[in-house]
Amino acid sequence: MSATAPASFRLAKRLDEVGFSDIVQIRNRVMELRVKGAAVYQFEGGEPYRPTPDYIKQAVTAALQENKTRYAPSSGIPELRRAIADKLRTGNNIHAKEENVIVVNGGMQGLFGAFQSTIDPGDDVLIFSPYWTPIKDLVAHCGGRLVLVPTDEARAEGVGATLRRYATANTRAIYFNTPTNPSGVVFTREESEEVASLAIDRDLVVVADEAYEDIVYEGEQISIASLPGMFERTITTFTLSKSYAMTGWRLGYAVAPKALAAKLDQLMINSSSCAAGFTQIAAIEALSAPESAHAVSRMVKVFEHRRDLIVDGINAIPGMRCTRPQGAFYAFPNIQGTGFGERELADRLLTEAGVAVLPGTAFGDAGKGYIRIAYTQSEDELSRGLQRIAEFVSKHKP
Ligand SMILES: Cc1ncc(COP(=O)(O)O)c(C=O)c1O
Repeated sequence: MSATAPASFRLAKRLDEVGFSDIVQIRNRVMELRVKGAAVYQFEGGEPYRPTPDYIKQAVTAALQENKTRYAPSSGIPELRRAIADKLRTGNNIHAKEENVIVVNGGMQGLFGAFQSTIDPGDDVLIFSPYWTPIKDLVAHCGGRLVLVPTDEARAEGVGATLRRYATANTRAIYFNTPTNPSGVVFTREESEEVASLAIDRDLVVVADEAYEDIVYEGEQISIASLPGMFERTITTFTLSKSYAMTGWRLGYAVAPKALAAKLDQLMINSSSCAAGFTQIAAIEALSAPESAHAVSRMVKVFEHRRDLIVDGINAIPGMRCTRPQGAFYAFPNIQGTGFGERELADRLLTEAGVAVLPGTAFGDAGKGYIRIAYTQSEDELSRGLQRIAEFVSKHKP
């Protein structure tokens, strides 16, 4: 066999049904364009695009200087688990103890563990659609099937009744993400109660994703695990990525009843062993320092202003219309009036106008006719990017 001949070993089938997130593929294209020197307005990413606050960075530097560089316990360092349990009790009304908390490498790993621990081949997972893309692949990895429940239909006709209509004999879990990526929907207390009621009636698990818990402009953040009868059937995943601009740190946590938390711990032991100890020390600072509450609320105010700028700007473009999202940091406008499909528009905005957005169908079929625009860049960038979108759309009027 020559040195360049491809090897002929067999690849495991396990990943055959698991895709490569559209989001990551577009992010890679943007990076390629930038490497070639193109100027691209980056409105595609789920990034706060701001530095991690200094006091958190100082905490990690100090931990490194003190040589806190060894393996950490698989479930997380005790001081951090205690700080998280405190935060869950006071901030989320979730009555968690330290033993219910597992520290993970980002919300993504928490969600991976949540589905791995609860979904078997042939199980169905109810999910409001449009939905955060990677969930499809996390469920596929377990041999499960997504049952898409259109969010608009559910909110118009009643969340409980709609979920019950879509539920099948194989339904095992509900994925519940509020505030929602990509639509910015914040489910109300009544809606959360209806989700809870179905879960209890049908003995389902709820995988609650509260990555954007702090980024709420209107409405109320309800942790579904805080509702009566829900703690024992809910795994909630949280992340430091969005609230503290720590996307690259890969740090999050999950809270679950003891038996489920033990499964997550088992997964940690057998995948990454643990989250890095020195970042966990800094996470205690992020969760407990008095500066944090101010830093987060300042950031949310800034994002609210940018939300209004982008929503008003989009609504001034003929052919586009956008509802005002209540949470997270994405606008999800309908673009059908522009005469473009969402994939063509996203593609041509990137290559011809230098603006990166995501096609709505990257978030499932309910995103047909929509694009997602993250509004975390500076106001100046957002205004200039909006201008380019407006010019492109008006030059190509249907
Ligand atoms: C809805 C949702 N859940 C979870 C995550 C996970 O974030 P991370 O893995 O950075 O903690 C994201 C990130 O974009 C998200 O949008």
